[in-house]
Amino acid sequence: MSYPYQIKSLEEYHAAYKKSVENPEAFWGEIAANFIWRKKWDKVLDWNFKEPKIEWFKGGQLNITENCIDRYLETMGDKPAIIWEPNNPEERTRVVTYNRLHKRVCQFAQVLINNGVKKGDRVCIYMGMVPELAYAVLGCARIGAVHSVIFGGFSAQSIADRLDDAHAEFIVTCDGAYRGAKDIPLKSVIDDALIGNKTVKRVIVYTRTRTPVSMIKGRDVWWEDEMEHAETQIEKDGVVSFPAETMDAEDPLFILYTSGSTGKPKGVVHTIGGYMVWTNYTFVNVFQYQREQVHFCTADIGWITGHSYILYGPLSAGATSIMFEGIPTYPDAGRFWDIIDKYKVNILYTAPTAIRSLMGFGLDPLKGKDLSSLKILGTVGEPINEEAWHWYDEHIGKKKCPIVDTWWQTETGGTLISNMAGITPSKPSWATLPMPGVQPLLVDESGKEVTEKDEHGLYKGNLCIKAPWPGILRTTYGDHERCRTNYFATYPDLYFTGDGALKDDDGNYRITGRVDDVLNISGHRIGTAEVENAINMHAGVVESAVVGYPHDVKGQGIYAYVIYNGHHGDDEMRRKDILLTVTRMIGAIAKPDKIQFVSGLPKTRSGKIMRRILRKIAEGETENLGDISTLLDPGVVEEIKNGRV
Ligand code: PRX
Repeated sequence: MSYPYQIKSLEEYHAAYKKSVENPEAFWGEIAANFIWRKKWDKVLDWNFKEPKIEWFKGGQLNITENCIDRYLETMGDKPAIIWEPNNPEERTRVVTYNRLHKRVCQFAQVLINNGVKKGDRVCIYMGMVPELAYAVLGCARIGAVHSVIFGGFSAQSIADRLDDAHAEFIVTCDGAYRGAKDIPLKSVIDDALIGNKTVKRVIVYTRTRTPVSMIKGRDVWWEDEMEHAETQIEKDGVVSFPAETMDAEDPLFILYTSGSTGKPKGVVHTIGGYMVWTNYTFVNVFQYQREQVHFCTADIGWITGHSYILYGPLSAGATSIMFEGIPTYPDAGRFWDIIDKYKVNILYTAPTAIRSLMGFGLDPLKGKDLSSLKILGTVGEPINEEAWHWYDEHIGKKKCPIVDTWWQTETGGTLISNMAGITPSKPSWATLPMPGVQPLLVDESGKEVTEKDEHGLYKGNLCIKAPWPGILRTTYGDHERCRTNYFATYPDLYFTGDGALKDDDGNYRITGRVDDVLNISGHRIGTAEVENAINMHAGVVESAVVGYPHDVKGQGIYAYVIYNGHHGDDEMRRKDILLTVTRMIGAIAKPDKIQFVSGLPKTRSGKIMRRILRKIAEGETENLGDISTLLDPGVVEEIKNGRV
């Protein structure tokens, strides 16, 4: 079976794009008709960006797990849905067929019900990359509970904040997780997060690492016991099944927390119908997925990429998706290539950071690895530099695999700007053309469309989108006003992405990076304000300012300027203490790469930190700092320049 909405030529792309803009309702209505609905929608699209109110397929009823699992059981129940590759290559792999996935998701749906979870309840999932994480996510979707997956690298404090924000009463976790040579004690982090918590009623714990854990009576239960019991409840004539709850298209599917330029991370909310159509449509078209192909997205399900392109996109397309527990450099830097060889992977989708880091190991790790199964390569999460692009093209794709550079965000649900593999042209380090339904617009600071080219013959501006696509976020959990001010208020009637971009005469886009105070570290988003707040929690710190600087592997590194007032220890010890504080408050992913102690920060007379100056110094630019005469104390700049680390 092919996908009737798979675009097959450049002409088809242009025709689809035109139709999607001229008549979005007809366009998306036809595509949505390829899914299983219990009741057809009343209206394809209703929207305004003022409130914002965005409704896709309103009145339609469905369950996303029926679309991801049940509809494939009859024709391809024995096809692998998920192939799980363990952290340790010596350990047995697990192949989860669509039949098996159905059984496990049904069992876990019953487990959730047995533990008091109801439709609409929020379930926080803090697990390593094991198949049970997929069962937990899809089990929630089956009963209509809202999952909120938290990446395993976040600290207890971060989890506590998220639990509180989402009013979550249920947690699914593991005793521990394997990542490379490390064991991460997930359950113990959860225990710390729950100190003082009064709302969480139940913690379901899956055994992965056999790390000792404290199981609290009345609160904590074992996954294995619960699953066994559930199976006996729902088995009938040898078949294990649990009816999928009927959901409205606009019911929330999940919350995923992500960083912005201010305050604490916000809970991006995606709803069922639009997200399903969008992840499926972009998966099928960007990667040009063909039945029987093996798709390997190397992301973690704790991030949006894993949600959309390990689980929902591929599964809703009946694909085979690889789920990898480990890291690219364990046990050695040939791990990705081993996996590709072992499973005859056809599509590899990874982050520029991973490519740059593997490039650093040279070509030895590629020796003896058969990568001939590869057909398509993809990148996501951050701009890819040309050097990495060419290395990927030459040494991994052997110059025969199109590379798709997919630009998108947690808020967009799936890819918005990317070439379609082999269908629309690629251009190294350019995301290229918008997906059907996506209308980008470059504006200047005042919100006016950029119509003049710069000195390189390109249009340059802040990237906005004019109209909704099915996968756009609907709100930020518990605070709709925050959603409005964050995304829809900077420029009236536009969705503002927070990214800067260039456009050429052919309509191709190149993303240049964030224009707000959000950093992109190894393809992960971290707000400067968030890191500053964490640093400022340290007892000796008076004030801090955090900026990004170019980092060879991570894309961006974190540079912190810190005013320190304590007397304890020397600079080295203070640095370590600050790093530990950040690890406790956010997680190791937010640790500054560089900390410079300063006696003051460059501030304007109104007290605003001039980050532009700090950014330039962190980047190594000490000459052209621009006008510093408006600073309260211009002398501080000299000191900062001299003390650069
Ligand atoms: O700055 C852009 C960058 O990542 C940001 C979104 O981060 P997050 O919500 O964590 O989602 C990452 C995975 C989709 C964007 O605002 N970004 C993402 N993809 C690209 C990119 N920058 C350049 N090129 C890309 N392909």
